[in-house]
Amino acid sequence: MSTQQHIPHHIAVVMDGNGRWASKRLLPRIAGHRQGVESLKRLVRACVVRGVSVLTVFAFSSENWNRPADEVSGLMDILVLALAREVPQLKRDGVRLKFIGAREGLSKRVTRGLLEAESATQTNSRLMLNVCFNYGGRWDIANAASQLALLGQEITEKSLGASLSTADCGDPDLIIRTGGERRLSNFLLWQAAYAELFFSDLLWPDFDELALEGALDDFASRERRFGMTSAQVADQTNQPA
Ligand code: FPP
Repeated sequence: MSTQQHIPHHIAVVMDGNGRWASKRLLPRIAGHRQGVESLKRLVRACVVRGVSVLTVFAFSSENWNRPADEVSGLMDILVLALAREVPQLKRDGVRLKFIGAREGLSKRVTRGLLEAESATQTNSRLMLNVCFNYGGRWDIANAASQLALLGQEITEKSLGASLSTADCGDPDLIIRTGGERRLSNFLLWQAAYAELFFSDLLWPDFDELALEGALDDFASRERRFGMTSAQVADQTNQPA
């Protein structure tokens, strides 16, 4: 059982494997995405209960537009429907929703859904839920750099980091990827610099509380050195707060 002391402040997740989950059951891929929403609901609840402050999930990448048109439009429908259905409960649970990614290219219906969900939950502060939608890590970095260039500001690690879409919630401590692949796939490239990576072979719809517990236990066992030596980390830990 992971201890409260080692609960990550910010968890980020690549929810991979919905299509395979559906294919294994001879169902259309979109059925896997619907089940993926159920798995996401379970994860959000678990994060609220465990006192995680920020959860960032990869729901639709800049590259996902290349999927078959019916899958893309199915994902848009799932998002709009899930928001209409789930926002009242998220509101009650103290979850604040924020959508991260390019708004260009999204339909009016989707854009309205995102804006309404953000505004309905904007005063919540128990869990910040960032949904990366039409998002890519390279887009995020390029977008931050062009904002600075437009303002005529110097591009430094500090200024660029502060212009990224996640600047207000800090970098992820733990990045989980399900579905058996071991890569970041253009997710939070800059922010992942010191994240602990956890890869699960489970398909996203099968990633349950027990699986999360396993990831948290694994995270609790890691020594995070941020470029220092083990001895320095131990010294820091032993110093009075
Ligand atoms: C990757 O699995 C998953 C996605 C591209 C979509 C993730 C979306 C959800 C979990 C549902 C929540 C969605 C919204 C819109 C809030 P994959 O389809 O690539 O799986 P595969 O590798 O098995 O084909």
